[in-house]
This record gives sequence, structure tokens and C-alpha cells, in this order.
Amino acid sequence: MNNIDKVKKAAINYYIYCNYRLCHFMNFMKSYAGVLLLAIIFIPGVSPVKGQSNANPVPQLGHNTIQEVIAAMTLEEKATLVVGAGRAPAPRNLPGVTIPGQTEIKVPGAAGNTAAIPRLGIPSMVLSDGPAGLRISPIRNGDSTIMYYATGFPVGTLLASTWDPALVEQVGKAFGNEVKEYGVDILLAPGINIHRNPLNGRNFEYYSEDPLIAGKMAAAIINGVQSNGVGTAVKHFAANNQETSRNSINTIVSERALRELYLRNFRIAINESNPWTVMSSYNKINGTYTAERKDLITTVLRDEWNYKGFVMTDWGGGRDWTAEMNAGNDLIMPGSPRQVQAIISAVKHDSISVKQLDMNVEHILNVVLKSPSFLKYRYSNKPDLKAHAEVAHKAATEGMVLLKNEANTLPFSKNIKVIAAFGNASYNTIAGGTGSGDVNKAYIISVYKGLANAGYAPDAGLETIYTQYFQQAKAQALAAAPVNGRRQQGPPPEMMATDDQITQKSKDCDIALITIGRNAGEGADRKLETNYNLTADEKQQIRKIAESFHSKGKKVVAVLNIGGVIDMNEWKDNIDAILLAWQPGQEAGYAIADILSGKVNPSGKLATTFPVQYTDVPSAKNFPGTPADKPAQVIYQEGIYIGYRYYDSFNIKPMYEFGYGLSYTDFSITDIKLSSDKFKGMVTATVNVKNIGHVAGKQVVQLYISAPAKTIDKPAQELKGFSKTRLLQPGESQPVTFSIREADLVSYHTDKSEWIADEGQYMVKIGASSRDIKQTATFKVGSKIVTETDHKVLQPLIAIDEYKPGTNK
Ligand code: BGC
Repeated sequence: MNNIDKVKKAAINYYIYCNYRLCHFMNFMKSYAGVLLLAIIFIPGVSPVKGQSNANPVPQLGHNTIQEVIAAMTLEEKATLVVGAGRAPAPRNLPGVTIPGQTEIKVPGAAGNTAAIPRLGIPSMVLSDGPAGLRISPIRNGDSTIMYYATGFPVGTLLASTWDPALVEQVGKAFGNEVKEYGVDILLAPGINIHRNPLNGRNFEYYSEDPLIAGKMAAAIINGVQSNGVGTAVKHFAANNQETSRNSINTIVSERALRELYLRNFRIAINESNPWTVMSSYNKINGTYTAERKDLITTVLRDEWNYKGFVMTDWGGGRDWTAEMNAGNDLIMPGSPRQVQAIISAVKHDSISVKQLDMNVEHILNVVLKSPSFLKYRYSNKPDLKAHAEVAHKAATEGMVLLKNEANTLPFSKNIKVIAAFGNASYNTIAGGTGSGDVNKAYIISVYKGLANAGYAPDAGLETIYTQYFQQAKAQALAAAPVNGRRQQGPPPEMMATDDQITQKSKDCDIALITIGRNAGEGADRKLETNYNLTADEKQQIRKIAESFHSKGKKVVAVLNIGGVIDMNEWKDNIDAILLAWQPGQEAGYAIADILSGKVNPSGKLATTFPVQYTDVPSAKNFPGTPADKPAQVIYQEGIYIGYRYYDSFNIKPMYEFGYGLSYTDFSITDIKLSSDKFKGMVTATVNVKNIGHVAGKQVVQLYISAPAKTIDKPAQELKGFSKTRLLQPGESQPVTFSIREADLVSYHTDKSEWIADEGQYMVKIGASSRDIKQTATFKVGSKIVTETDHKVLQPLIAIDEYKPGTNK
């Protein structure tokens, strides 16, 4: 190369270098850092980090106090923060508002994000569903070589049936670890609404008809999840007990029913766990959307209960964003630019005070400060799914409820080897419900697989028949013309085995197992005829299988793979043993096989009643509301009498009562002792629980109180304590002690807004279920006790003709 060439090459290289630098410079300038640097260079007094020598440093979250940060925020920035940043937290560009944010979606599949305000060191937080496992996308950018699966834990109804908060806390720990390791800040769970009616499509997410169980379970899972340094959103606050007209239904409910049932679950959860956030609900309470009710969100939640976290709307909840801010509903989710503008304009027109908006901002920033995103946690995207699967498996076995066991059909005797597994759900086992409560898990262990894994020989011929049926059904669905532009998806209808197949299997197999599957979820309630009741085909199939197997001296077992209560009345007599497996998460088949084989002795108990028939349900006449074709309002006419509070007070015999569940062993509960027969602030009650059977097992001991109904009506009894024993070997005993406090005796007196325990005699009932009371004792309350006076709020606008024992129903 001659000198001229050398000069030319150097010139070209310099040109490329300059271009490269310019390009970088331009990119840099486009980025937020560039803008910031320019600001530092050209705008006097702007400096990004505290401690720089500049005269007017911009306060930074974490370095400065929250008050200093708020004082430095523009109105636009405040409005941006109180409105979610949508699913993809892109920069906000509105007329007059430009707030740079992060442009990439941090966690695909997350339900939402809060806005970032980089100028003040405020990062975006990621919010993700849901109650039975973290709901995120399993695949990113179409690359299936790396999968982002989350563990499918058992659903809420099953967790509640464990009656074991310590175990549920372990589930929460594992669950929360996935939240953290997948880069999520706040888990949108647990859902703790009360099982008012069995048709509610989301009951599977929720825990119980009883607020004590719901509150304790919620506290356990929240404590477990939050022990990882991530947040939860206890939801849906409050009285959100149906999916029909879910975004607009007006719930008309008495103050007493609210206080004693629909708020009490939240109160217990908040007292005992302190969730970082609360999600208000979609429904109205007595005429006003919950998110817009200051009396609910500020007076009750913050003033009476001393709640310190922030409150967010459900996704698109409520209508009036100004009212939401003023109510103390701090964050509007998922958020839209229109809402930011609306908040700005409301402040400019004095509909929201700056003080109020600052308070909303403060509540959010308090939580941002402890979030993994703020703390720059380097998440791995690799939680220990294997270890968590074991937690899911254990919890699943602990929450299954043995409902029926004629002549010791279960556990399977040594002679049982070849099993005829009928029912779609034996093969397509249902891990959990649908909607935002669904989880993208790596697999579901079917009942068939669980049995095979446990050393049984589930009939392979039947498996082939079912598999072919599923394939055909799928092909048919794909071939069918789309309805309203959509392909019809969803599980195929129940396959009906032919008479010949049933007869053949009753010859070839040692026992029949029928898995009855039901699914439901967000957006729709269950249909009475086809989801709560078994279909005519299903009932006929059960009858035929039972006839054929029984005629050969062989037994029939049913496994209920369901998320909520179903009808049992019309078919259960055909069956020898019934295991309520609920929707047990991804390890379903393993857990079911553990119980059927006797490897694990069932110890779950019902946290929700199975009535004899749907018409017995106290809310049946008032669900899902009126007018029937498109309900606008629902009246909680049953008042405080839901679940066992109703069946026990109105002498209605349930099919399986609250607290019920069988074991492979027997227990005695004896020797009740009260610390005193006079109540002075507290009484303790102790009993002795003994395993008097032949295999090891756990017993759930339940304490109910019957209070005198002097000044107002009272339920016949109410659950006030429960305790699950350790695994007791045959002959082994364990003392169990309960503390009964003033708060356990009081009822809400609407006229004075007071919680009062009348003087008189109280009966303590300790037993194995609400209707299997083994020990009783009484104590006296010498004079009326008032534990607290609440605000007169949330009143119904119309009179409710509530049910009262001894009068109407
Ligand atoms: C549900 C919430 C859920 C939210 C975000 C809403 O439709 O009601 O439970 O957390 O969506 O997915």
C-alpha cells in the first residue's frame, strides 16, 4: 500500500468511526439518559443524583424521603403514577405529558405494570396473577428452547380444605419464590371472596363459606409469599361473589352481613399478614362501585383496620376515576393515557385535591420502595420448579376430602391391581380453573398416570379408547365452522363408554374408578343444569358402571375433580367410595394415587357445605340477581345466614356438612376442660385427641360457639377456632388448646354500629365437623361486652327483608 492509499484508508476509517460515533450519539440522544444528560448540561439546577454538587438536585426515591420526592413531582408525573402503565409499560406521550418509561415488556404475560418515572428514580413494578400459581407466558419471542413455566399449585378450595395454615404458608413460600425469580413484584392473589353460592364460577380461587377460614388461609399464603420480599394483592374487596354481570352488579347487602362475613375475611387477613396491596372489586355495594367508596376504602380499611399498603382497582373496575382517587383507591389498573389525562384535569378543576393525590402517590411509593424492581433484584428466571412441585404435591394430598367410604373400599386392598378408569378427567385431569386464575404449568399428572406410577395397572384399553375420543373431538372442533369468527375450543363432552365396553371392563378389571370433572372460571358462573348437576348421560353412565361391577362383586370409586360444589344427591348411592380431590394442581394424579392407595391417610375437611339439593342453598332464590336475563342487582336476603350458619340455624340437613371429612383411622376427642366457667377477657378450652384406629392419621379439631340470642338473632353456632393435629400413630394422643377471646363472642349490632357480646351462657362445642360435636362445655359472660364501635357506613339504600331463624326463609 503506497502512502496515498494509506492516507485514503485512514480517511475512510475516520469517516466510518465518525459515523459510528454519530450514530451512537444519536441513539444516545434518543434514549432517556441522553435527554437527562442534556438536561444536566443545559438546564441549570437539574442533576439526577443526590449528592452531586449542583444547587438543585432532583430528589431520588430511596435517597430522599418520599415527601421530598412527591414535592418534586409534577402533576403529570403524579397522575402517571396513579394510573397503571398497561401490560407493556411504554413511555407516555400525551398532549402536554411526556413521561419516559421502559419500553420493553419485562415479564411477558404479566397482567400489568405500574408507571416508571426515571427522573425521580421510580421504577415500574410488575403485577401478575393469580391464586394457584404465577400466571406468566411460558414462551418468549416464539423461542420454545427456553420455557418459563410456573408451578400449578392446588386451587383455593383445596388449600382451605387442608385446615392447615402452616402448610398453606409453605405453599406461599414456594409460590412467592417463583414470583421473585421471574421478576414480578406483586402477585395478584389471594382471592378470598366468600362462597355465597356454589354456582360462582370463581369459587375455585376462593377458600370458604366461612370468614375465619378464608381470613386465616389468606394470611398464611400472604405471609408465605411476602416472606420472599415480594408483594401480594388480596382481592376482590369486597362482596364480589358472582361472575354474572360482574362489572356492574349492584350488591345489596346489610351492614351486619358485610361486617360479619364479607369484610371479616379481609380484616383477619390484613390483621394477620399485612398484604402490600388490596384489590378492590368490580361490583357495587349498596349502589356505589367499591373502588369509589371512600367509606369502604378509607374509613373501614385504613381508619378502622389501620391498613398501610396501597389499593388498586380490579382491571377496569369502577367508572369514575376521580371518585376512585378520592375514595383512597390509589392505583387505577391496568391504566390508560385517557385516565392520566382525566386525573390531571380533575386536579386542575379541584375535583381531586393535591393533598389527596399526594396521599395516593405516597401509598404507592411506600410499596415501590420495598419492591424487587426498586431494589434491582437480579432475578434468575430459574426457580426450583422441582422442589416446588413437591410442595404442590404435598399440599394436594392434605386438602383432599374423603366423602364416602362404604365397607372400607378405600384404601385399595392388596387385591386391587387392574383399574378401569372411566371419565374424561381420568386422562385429562383438571389442575385448576380458567381465566386469570389459570397457570401456565409444564405438565399435569393425570389420574391414569398417577395410578400407573403408584404400581397399579390402569386398563390400557380404556386409555386408548379415551385418547382416540379426544383426538377425534379435537379434529372435529378444528373442522367445524367458527362461531362469530371464533373456533370453538374447550374440553370435549364426556365420553360415554358403550355397554359392551363397560361389561368387558367389569370382567377384566378389579375395580372401577370414575373421575368426574368440572371446570369454570372468570367471566361466567356455572350453569345449574350442566355444571352443578351431573348430566343425564353422566348419571346413566355411573349407573351402568355400578350395575356391571357390583353384579360381579366389584367396587366403584368416584374421584371428584372439581373446583366447587356439585350435586351428589342423584348418583352417590351407586358409588362405594368418593374422594373429593378438588382441582389439585399439576401433581394431581400423584396426590390422588397417594390417597387411593393409602400411602397418605386423607385429612382434608370441607370448608364449604355440600347441600342435598341446590334449592336448599340460602342464596338460591337470589342468585345471580334480577332481572333474570341481565342481572343488575342482587339482594343478599339471607343476610348472615350463609353456608352452615344457615343450615344449622334453619334445620336443613346438608349432604356433607361444613367441616366434614373421613379418615382411614378413627379419633376420639375427649376431656374438655375450660380454664374457667366465667369469661374474664379470655377462656381457654383444651381437649385430648387420640388416634383410636389402626393407621396413622391427622385430625382437624374444630371449635364452634353457640351464643345467647338475647338482643339480636345469632347463628346456631359459629366456627371460632380450628387446629390440625400432627400425624398421630395408632394409640397416640395430642392435647389441643384453643383461646376464646372477646372478639370471638361479639356480633355486629347495626343500630349502634357496635360489636357486642350479650351477657348469658355460651356453649363451646368441639368436634370433628360442624355436625359431629364430641365435647361441649359452657361459660358465662357476666355482663354485656362491647369490643368496638365502628363508623356508620355502607348502609343499604333499600330495606332488605332478611331471613331470621324461626321466621321466614
Ligand atoms: C380479575 C382479577 C385479575 C385481573 C388481572 C381481572 O379481570 O378479576 O382477579 O387479577 O383481571 O388479570
